[in-house]
Amino acid sequence: MKNRNHFTRRNFLALLPASAFCLANVSHSAMLQAENTSEMNNTSQLNAFCPGELWYDNNNVPINAHGGGMLYHEGRYYWFGEHKIEGDAGNYAQVGVHCYSSTDLYHWQDEGIALKVSENPKSDIAKGCILERPKVIYCAKTKKFVMWFHLEVGQNYSSARSGVAVADSVTGPYRFIESKRINAGFWPQNAPGQFKEPLHPEETEYLKKLSLHGGPVLGYPRDMIFRRDFFGGQMARDMTLFVDDDGKAYHIYSSEENGVLHVAQLSDDYLSHNGSWVRIFPGRFHEAPAIFKKDGKYYLFSSGCTGWAPNAARVSVADSIMGEWKELGNPCRGSEEDKNLTFRSQSTYVIPVIGKENTFIFMADRWNPKNAIDGRYVWLPIQFDADGTPYLEWKDSWSY
Ligand code: DGJ
Repeated sequence: MKNRNHFTRRNFLALLPASAFCLANVSHSAMLQAENTSEMNNTSQLNAFCPGELWYDNNNVPINAHGGGMLYHEGRYYWFGEHKIEGDAGNYAQVGVHCYSSTDLYHWQDEGIALKVSENPKSDIAKGCILERPKVIYCAKTKKFVMWFHLEVGQNYSSARSGVAVADSVTGPYRFIESKRINAGFWPQNAPGQFKEPLHPEETEYLKKLSLHGGPVLGYPRDMIFRRDFFGGQMARDMTLFVDDDGKAYHIYSSEENGVLHVAQLSDDYLSHNGSWVRIFPGRFHEAPAIFKKDGKYYLFSSGCTGWAPNAARVSVADSIMGEWKELGNPCRGSEEDKNLTFRSQSTYVIPVIGKENTFIFMADRWNPKNAIDGRYVWLPIQFDADGTPYLEWKDSWSY
């Protein structure tokens, strides 16, 4: 029987002027009440991105792939992201990594859960863990799909591990291999000689007195934490992956209590790290790295460290992925709020649009930690200055 109070997307569309591309800010739960799917079919056939608005898959269900990444493979885009549930519980991994596919980036087909959390409480990826920012790359050498993600074993952010899973088919199922800290026993390539030694006792004492909470801290020691973690491996939280034109793959992550970004090369099969890594921007506290390459230069979007709350984005450039990296400032243009809060979002990935030269999409999350499933996606076109510097401007709706 039909619920008289139900609110369908079609009802809502009828209220909008014909020129409006995107749904206004309807709450997720209101939309979930829309139960008559036949009424909702064929209402999402818009060839436009509507940043911050609800975005539906082929089943008319809101896309659930937060902190996501994109893989283009054999003519289709695959969007992998954190499947979240309602409420605060959704900030923990209750389901796994969701996958969607598309040929045009506007219309998405649900491909199901690519990596499931484990029902075994002893597993590193036990249901209720923190599993964030999954990214998938294809290894041409092994013909396997490799997923890396930020993993916290348990419900706080102290383990700062990286998880890796592998699949024969792009949509999965992905088989969890292991989680670990990174590059134990390897010094960074760009550390001066005097720092290539473990901490001295007085440095250990100094560190113990600091309250390191993942954000900027007075007296943050720029050159101690990677030495503290030399034997056990480096911390890794927010992360992304990048495969360069020569097939070499890199893992870029916030490390050293979030105070330093690391760029670490993966092994040839992409399943581990090969010991070659650099530290960039020590003491600058970058999160949410999202990288792309244009005209031989590498560009990196990132954010500051303010938990789920948005802050001002940053963009950086390098001629080589292993550096030197240089910060170029805040890429956002618009109102003070747009600039200070990155359009109320935080970067997660940059999508190169295949077949469209110099066309890149800034992919970001507008988190909603009180009702995690209702986090929104903010996708904006990356624009370029006359000197090639990338910048971002708000668009209510746009197409590439
Ligand atoms: C910001 C990060 O970018 C997110 O992925 C998540 O880890 C939150 N912090 C948690 O506060």
